[in-house]
Amino acid sequence: MSYLSIEGGALLHGELTIQGSKNSVLPVLAATILARGVCRIENCPHLRDVDASIAILRHLGCRVRRDGTALEVDTAPMARCDIPDELMREMRSSVIFLGAILARQGEAVLSYPGGCELGPRPIDLHLAALRELGAEITEVGGELRCKAKCLRGTDLTLAIPSVGATENAILAACGAEGTSVIYNAAREPEIVDLQALLRSMGARVSGAGGSIITVEGGAPLHGCTHRVIGDRIVCATYLCAAAAAGGEVRFTGVDYRAVSTVALALAESGCEVRSEADAVSLRSAGALRSVRPVRTAPYPGFPTDAQPVLMAALLKSEGCTVFVENIFENRYRHVDELSRMGAEIRVAGRVAVVNGVRALHGAAVKCTDLRGGAALVIAGLSAEGTTRVTELTHIDRGYDAIERDLAALGARIRRETT
Ligand code: EPZ
Repeated sequence: MSYLSIEGGALLHGELTIQGSKNSVLPVLAATILARGVCRIENCPHLRDVDASIAILRHLGCRVRRDGTALEVDTAPMARCDIPDELMREMRSSVIFLGAILARQGEAVLSYPGGCELGPRPIDLHLAALRELGAEITEVGGELRCKAKCLRGTDLTLAIPSVGATENAILAACGAEGTSVIYNAAREPEIVDLQALLRSMGARVSGAGGSIITVEGGAPLHGCTHRVIGDRIVCATYLCAAAAAGGEVRFTGVDYRAVSTVALALAESGCEVRSEADAVSLRSAGALRSVRPVRTAPYPGFPTDAQPVLMAALLKSEGCTVFVENIFENRYRHVDELSRMGAEIRVAGRVAVVNGVRALHGAAVKCTDLRGGAALVIAGLSAEGTTRVTELTHIDRGYDAIERDLAALGARIRRETT
């Protein structure tokens, strides 16, 4: 078993290029199924979730070759339309493959993706959108059996701006005859990146980044080369790490606008934040102030994925900060672990109240989920003494060697194996 050993107290200094975005590369890899030919996807991070996606593509019969931080996907040999249970369990967001498989093969079979650490992860909006496009979907014994002799373009409205449901609807609509208009679409930057990839394949998609996305389906799609955008949540994580530990850092490879709500909160806490086109700098004396209530919301609101890491940065701030988690039902599982380090946090339903403490102390803590794990690392950087973080598989789903990046900035952190 491997764990991270962190000696708190080191300032963070230096510059880092942020890895490619996990939440962009996953739907992008699913979208390659729509192209008959080879897609070269660049800036692909080395992550467990990317490995899971590669395993699914290979199971379907596609050839996938990793070339450093690029992946070459050849879907010509694709012969299957099912995702087996063990691959679905590896990564619940594998449901993002559903629309693309359906569009390509006319049928798809996958086991019902279970919930995850963040609570039940329903896919009713995904299924409703695909049914509107003409898919027949039955749920038999935990398995989703989908058929679509011919997907037909239509106007559809998402009850909530779900990121995954928006992506599934776009991918299925690309394979539908006629035009689809998706209303109340998610506006995340990862959707804009998916549109850019699809356009490179020859798809006619427009409106991504706004709430109304139009897809003129049916065009034969070809291979392409696409560079994935930088990971805004990894950037937000490292900004929070520097804010908590103190120091001066600069991160490149991420559009500032994609992290602006997090940068604004850190500026309010007393950090000096400077933005450039595709870079952001932060200077912190380490002593932070509490900030006005942080309410998570769909993009461009405050990202739910940054809630745990901003919370970790504010554990020693002067005063009290209120968090309201409006996206997921169970996204405070990191709170108990942070409390083991001396944090003072009270949770009531969707609300968490952080009372800043004078000091945190190192402890043995366990990752509960991907971003909750990152929060523990941030707390360890600003704690007195040594923190040991276990259950690293959670962190490795979304961070490409977090210890390498933070050590490069001066953190006293290393990965050990027992
Ligand atoms: C994506 O998950 C991200 N994952 C999540 O990042 C992120 O937290 C989330 O969007 C919100 O931004 C990927 O992109 C791979 P949603 P997704 O559908 O698509 C409810 C991380 O840490 N909902 O926008 O699953 C759902 O329960 C991960 O990188 C339905 O009710 O999120 C949630 O409350 C965690 N029915 C809300 O919508 C549905 O059919 C938003 O979920 C779908 C979703």
